[in-house]
Amino acid sequence: MQQSAKTSTHSEKPENIVEIKDVVRTYLVDNQPVHALRGITLNIPKGKLVILKGPSGSGKTTILNIIGGLDQPTSGTVLFQGRDLTKFSERELTTWRRKQIGFVFQTSPLIQILSAFENVELALRINRVPWAEREKRTNRALEIVGLRKRASHRTFELSGGEQQRVGIARAIVTEPELILADEPTGELDFATGMQVMQLFKELVRERGITICVATHDPATMQFGDIVYELHDGEII
Ligand SMILES: Nc1ncnc2c1ncn2[C@@H]1O[C@H](COP(=O)(O)OP(=O)(O)OP(=O)(O)O)[C@@H](O)[C@H]1O
Ligand SMILES: [Mg+2]
Repeated sequence: MQQSAKTSTHSEKPENIVEIKDVVRTYLVDNQPVHALRGITLNIPKGKLVILKGPSGSGKTTILNIIGGLDQPTSGTVLFQGRDLTKFSERELTTWRRKQIGFVFQTSPLIQILSAFENVELALRINRVPWAEREKRTNRALEIVGLRKRASHRTFELSGGEQQRVGIARAIVTEPELILADEPTGELDFATGMQVMQLFKELVRERGITICVATHDPATMQFGDIVYELHDGEII
């Protein structure tokens, strides 16, 4: 966060990459309302590792989906770098998402017949990046997650932890502003889970990426610059 001894001005406020205000998400199931989010207000400052913690059903995935433009709030505002996502068209959202957001899930949905390299490179193909640039950036992303030596391995030749790191390489290769990770350590043993969190911390510290992790794993809390605790759709 920016610190300054000078008199404070607006420009010195810490820059928030995401600002969520009074976000409500109510689903209708068999005409009955399900209150997933009951008025959430939170900020994600640029260059921080933010953790959303809370028990199952507390609304973590719903928030990530809304931040990532995969779902829309019933009411409230979601600003991404000052732009109101709820005003975007479907098409604008898709283009914006591909460029600005990297998603990491509990298990990385990799294409089995492709190598680690090809799985990561695919993300750049979708964004129509030229080959020379794709090759350079894919190798760099695999290097960052410590998998350069595994680049030609196919998915089934990689361990669960390695597959998760390919998923992270794929999320960072497009150089997104924000990575959203939903239970990224959920399927990993303790030590591998801690390595993934350590990698996230390095990405934040050394590369200035902003990461938001949803988790109920208490061991991951120590890695967060900010921890928001959710309970039944509210921040406590
Ligand atoms: N598409 C949907 N339709 C109806 N209800 C939904 C939908 N998505 C989520 N919910 C409900 O909203 C609430 C919050 O769900 P959410 O998936 O955000 O929880 P979570 O904190 O991610 O839980 P977990 O730790 O189990 O992943 C739950 O009660 C869930 O059943
Ligand atoms: Mg969830």
